[in-house]
Amino acid sequence: MKKALVLGASGATGQILVTLLIQKGFKVLALVRKTSIEKAPFAAHDNLELIEAEISTISIDSLAQYTHQCEVVCCCLGHNISFRGILGPPWRLVADAVQKVSRAIEQKDAHSKTKFILMNTSGCTNPDIPETPPLSQRLITSILRVFLPPLVDNEKAVEFLRLTIGQKHEKIEWVAVRPDDLINETHVSDYEIHASPIRNVIFDAGKTSRINVADFMSELAVNHDLWQQWKGQMPIIYNNQPEV
Ligand SMILES: NC(=O)c1ccc[n+]([C@@H]2O[C@H](COP(=O)([O-])OP(=O)(O)OC[C@H]3O[C@@H](n4cnc5c(N)ncnc54)[C@H](OP(=O)(O)O)[C@@H]3O)[C@@H](O)[C@H]2O)c1
Repeated sequence: MKKALVLGASGATGQILVTLLIQKGFKVLALVRKTSIEKAPFAAHDNLELIEAEISTISIDSLAQYTHQCEVVCCCLGHNISFRGILGPPWRLVADAVQKVSRAIEQKDAHSKTKFILMNTSGCTNPDIPETPPLSQRLITSILRVFLPPLVDNEKAVEFLRLTIGQKHEKIEWVAVRPDDLINETHVSDYEIHASPIRNVIFDAGKTSRINVADFMSELAVNHDLWQQWKGQMPIIYNNQPEV
């Protein structure tokens, strides 16, 4: 049976992703903090294994025990929306996790490549294309970089994939999925995927439901053609907006 490791599995998007991956035939290894396991966000399932661990303190060797079993690793980690979560440590939660997972995967002897799917944000640009956000967006983003550590964390995380892992890594292929303004919906709806933002991320953000993000991430895990289309890129995802 195919296996997927999910980081941030206790989060709003991570929980949905776990469910969808199981529905699509994966056994899911969900790495979660003790405090989150106690909150019991998961229904028991034969194809769900909860791994109680702190991503910031787990060793690369320990992490490798899990990444070696998996053909897909998904990361939905993000800073909790609280004063401490946004401004307090760990300031490099996501970037350090991405590096640690990558180092763990690199220890694998097998020649098969692991898919690494990162939940990122439309606030990060993709200089590979290149993208030139509107001036107003660039100005606000440069201010947010000073006051909003999670933005810099997300930028560092995807920069590591772009520049250090790159496009020709022998063991890792990656996609960084960039949602716009996240909302909650109960069902998957029509959504559109673009290589770059088609809206001003600050002044005209689109809506992206978490369940659509999870659906796209799980489709990347199972759909070979979709993976080939987006690997090494940073697709933007928006809910389809009804015509007015
Ligand atoms: N808000 C937006 O509009 C928006 C838009 C685009 C992209 N994003 C990005 O998408 C991410 C995921 O969104 P979401 O709403 O699904 O996030 P969420 O519900 O806040 O989930 C965050 C996950 O990260 C984990 N986490 C937080 N701090 C941690 C720490 N110090 N150590 C280990 N794990 C930690 C949480 O674990 P616990 O349950 O243990 O706390 C949880 O599993 C965001 O954080 C952001 O980077 C957000």
